[in-house]
Amino acid sequence: MEASLGALIFPYLLLLICVHHPLARAEDTVSRDRPLSGGRRLVSSGGNFALGFFQPDDRAPNRWYLAIWYNKISKTTPVWIANRATPISDPNSSQLTVSEDGNLVLLDQARSLIWATNITSSINSTVGVILDSGNFVLAPASNTSNFHWQSFDEPTNVWLPGAKLGRNKITGQTTRFISWQSSVDPSPGYYTLEIDPNGGDQFIHRWNSSAIYWETGRWTGNMFTGVPEMALYPKETLSYKFTVNNQESYFVYRTNASIATAMFIMEISGQVKTVVWMESRKDWVPFLALPKAQCNVYFVCGSFTMCTENAVTFCSCLRGFSKQYNGEWRYGNPSGGCMRNVELQCGGNSSRKTTADGFYALAVAKLPDKAWGLATVSTDGCKEACLNNCSCTAYSYAGGCSLWYGDLINLVAPADSSMGQSMYIRLAASEFSNPTKTRKAAVIGASTAGAILVTLIVIIGILLILRKRSFSEVNKVEGSLVVFRYRFQQYVTKNFSERLGKGSFGSVCKGSLPDGTLIAVKKLDSVSQGDKQFRAEVSTIGTIQHVNLIQLLGFCSERSMKMLVYEFMPNGSLDRHLFGSTPVTLSWKTRYQIALGIAKGLAYLHEKCRSLIIHCDIKPENVLLDANFMPKIADFGLAKLLGRDFSRVLTTMRGTIGYLAPEWINGTAITAKADVFSYGMMLFEIISGDRNADWHRKGAETFFPVLVAMRLPEGKIQDLLGPELSADVNLEEVERACKVACWCVQDDDNTRPTMGEIVQILEGLVDVSFPPIPWYLHVLAQRSNFSTEEASH
Ligand SMILES: *[C@@H]1O[C@H](CO)[C@@H](O)[C@H](O)[C@H]1NC(C)=O
Ligand SMILES: *[C@@H]1O[C@H](CO)[C@@H](O)[C@H](O)[C@H]1NC(C)=O
Ligand SMILES: *[C@@H]1O[C@H](CO)[C@@H](O)[C@H](O)[C@H]1NC(C)=O
Ligand SMILES: *[C@@H]1O[C@H](CO)[C@@H](O)[C@H](O)[C@H]1NC(C)=O
Ligand SMILES: *[C@@H]1O[C@H](CO)[C@@H](O)[C@H](O)[C@H]1NC(C)=O
Ligand SMILES: *[C@@H]1O[C@H](CO)[C@@H](O)[C@H](O)[C@H]1NC(C)=O
Ligand SMILES: *[C@@H]1O[C@H](CO)[C@@H](O)[C@H](O)[C@H]1NC(C)=O
Ligand SMILES: *[C@@H]1O[C@H](CO)[C@@H](O)[C@H](O)[C@H]1NC(C)=O
Repeated sequence: MEASLGALIFPYLLLLICVHHPLARAEDTVSRDRPLSGGRRLVSSGGNFALGFFQPDDRAPNRWYLAIWYNKISKTTPVWIANRATPISDPNSSQLTVSEDGNLVLLDQARSLIWATNITSSINSTVGVILDSGNFVLAPASNTSNFHWQSFDEPTNVWLPGAKLGRNKITGQTTRFISWQSSVDPSPGYYTLEIDPNGGDQFIHRWNSSAIYWETGRWTGNMFTGVPEMALYPKETLSYKFTVNNQESYFVYRTNASIATAMFIMEISGQVKTVVWMESRKDWVPFLALPKAQCNVYFVCGSFTMCTENAVTFCSCLRGFSKQYNGEWRYGNPSGGCMRNVELQCGGNSSRKTTADGFYALAVAKLPDKAWGLATVSTDGCKEACLNNCSCTAYSYAGGCSLWYGDLINLVAPADSSMGQSMYIRLAASEFSNPTKTRKAAVIGASTAGAILVTLIVIIGILLILRKRSFSEVNKVEGSLVVFRYRFQQYVTKNFSERLGKGSFGSVCKGSLPDGTLIAVKKLDSVSQGDKQFRAEVSTIGTIQHVNLIQLLGFCSERSMKMLVYEFMPNGSLDRHLFGSTPVTLSWKTRYQIALGIAKGLAYLHEKCRSLIIHCDIKPENVLLDANFMPKIADFGLAKLLGRDFSRVLTTMRGTIGYLAPEWINGTAITAKADVFSYGMMLFEIISGDRNADWHRKGAETFFPVLVAMRLPEGKIQDLLGPELSADVNLEEVERACKVACWCVQDDDNTRPTMGEIVQILEGLVDVSFPPIPWYLHVLAQRSNFSTEEASH
């Protein structure tokens, strides 16, 4: 009997022990009885967040911080830090506890106060609780919902879903998200995100608590005027709310945790980024950066630097300067800037002109602010004025004289070296006439002479070889491009006999180089440019390389004959496969890959080239397919090359009309968004496998964009596809592609996404909401309803 009772009770006891054992379930509460130190951590009740001691840099073992991080994510990502400016050296002997007056306190090994919640309350039994939202609160033990302090009110650099970005009108307290100092130092950096202090419904970005360098623009209810693409994000994934009442005004945003883990970070680089956790990449992926241009961030590179947009290392020192704090640069904070290699000669004996300082010309996207104007009539007078004041560091003379004193900041490289404005940077005279440099120059001169000799020998050699092959003329290499002679072209294309097609700007022929490489030669009909300008443009096109862009190999420019030589694409152009009579239809997978590849190619042209390249003529005829059906965009750069002739040819071409954005017809400025429109129209064709333009024959109700606009909201996606595709299609991808296409063809070019965003959407990194129906599709859709109604009457 006793034994059986013991057997009954024992498991029960065991259960009790387990429940009370700290290891059985991590605690979410810190109290006076149970302080936190060492490697122990608190975990929120749902397991989302952990709180404990953390060190950002393994190489600095004595710098520990009390932090909150995502508990379920493999990369430790601190979202809040208590003692961001005052690290502790030993977590084992430090502790987080509740003080006698009921505040949370962090004490170091000497029991001195490192950090505290500084509230006055009459409650004498309080605890700290980490909540599942990532909020750490101080509340009475009897009711932890009734908190007196929360970490959401004193954030570091991360704005979590559910936290308020706002201002308390009664206390005047504002929540500010302040960047880290560097990637290994969480102490407050230069950049701040906060709500408009004047009460506007927008966020602002500030530098060093003063200069406002970016504003989101007003909140319209579903987007900020400066971030129109926000309207794209579906409410279920990311929703914002702006609240204003007598006590406070604030923004909150919510994400659907079952879809994605996302947050906003004020980065060291001064951009606010929205990042999403990608389990497949085991990393955070940014999908929105504000401001979009890195170089628009105030002081991002510090003094005497140049910021270059889209460069891997966007900050560099000006000529004559070198990095001030190398370590800081390495950890992502270049704002220490650069310093002079040689001090200016100014002062003392500046009257002796031989030792006076000199200037060199520098091209910048725009002249920096804070210039002093000077009424002088000549560039020499301007230069003289700068030389005569020792703190003058640069001048510019463009109509009027501008002088800059002290550190030069916010210099941005022009997108194109031929554009931008010139300014003159002051350096010590020795930087210009360095005797060691002259010696170097002599050495270089000698070696150049050597190189020329070698090149000559090689050329003569090639000449001899070619002669054997019965070519009487040589093809030279200019930059990365081969300059072909016309006679050579005639030879390799068998006198232009194998015609591949006739494009808008000339015919294309197939050819074969002596080594067997197949090429496509495009003869340009209407080039009014001179030889020099043509060569300059072509060599720019030649430097553009991307897997989804056709590679220019060389060109020919002799008298009025202008030709471009490209790599040859065995599978021809996309239109042949979509609308031609080829027996195999493209599978859905291939179509999706083609759509994504084209988007990547265009994104490269729009966003990654040194100067923006608008294609202007995106259509299936200009997409070529290699042996693996990898798409490559052809004819990019021709818009600039052909200039005015281009738009004339384009707008008079009937075949192109279906792809042209409204801007082309109503005469407003053409931007990269015109390509986005054409891409959208082509995407409809890639999905349907039919020419959009065929509706003229078959009736408006068959116009595929209209069908999509009508069926998409009803969820009838399968109905949109022809029978040839029904087998292997991925309906989720079809829906995504349809939504993208609808967004691309919006009337207002500001509402259309960028190609970079399209790539992210197609890759499934970003979700996309239902697009509004563009007005002309609306009109067409109504007309088609009307006609069916009429028919049924
Ligand atoms: C803290 O204590 C643990 C266990 O005793 C030890 O492994 C760890 O190295 C200590 N940490 C520091 C920073 O001293
Ligand atoms: C704590 O709060 C009191 C009154 O609210 C204030 O006078 C004091 O400066 C604060 N201390 C700290 C360290 O913030
Ligand atoms: C504070 O604690 C003491 C003893 O624990 C208790 O008697 C007292 O009522 C408490 N005071 C308040 C304001 O809750
Ligand atoms: C706990 O505090 C919250 C917020 O002040 C209040 O709404 C709730 O009624 C309290 N619960 C109890 C059991 O007192
Ligand atoms: C930032 O602001 C502080 C205080 O106004 C000032 O002392 C400091 O020089 C500023 N930093 C720079 C780099 O200008
Ligand atoms: C979150 O997403 C899931 C799955 O898509 C959906 O079922 C749920 O309704 C969403 N929740 C909210 C609050 O939107
Ligand atoms: C100025 O020149 C004189 C004579 O050449 C020289 O002795 C003096 O040191 C110079 N002063 C400065 C500040 O360089
Ligand atoms: C140089 O220019 C600055 C700004 O105009 C002025 O404050 C300073 O007095 C000038 N110095 C001299 C030596 O003229």
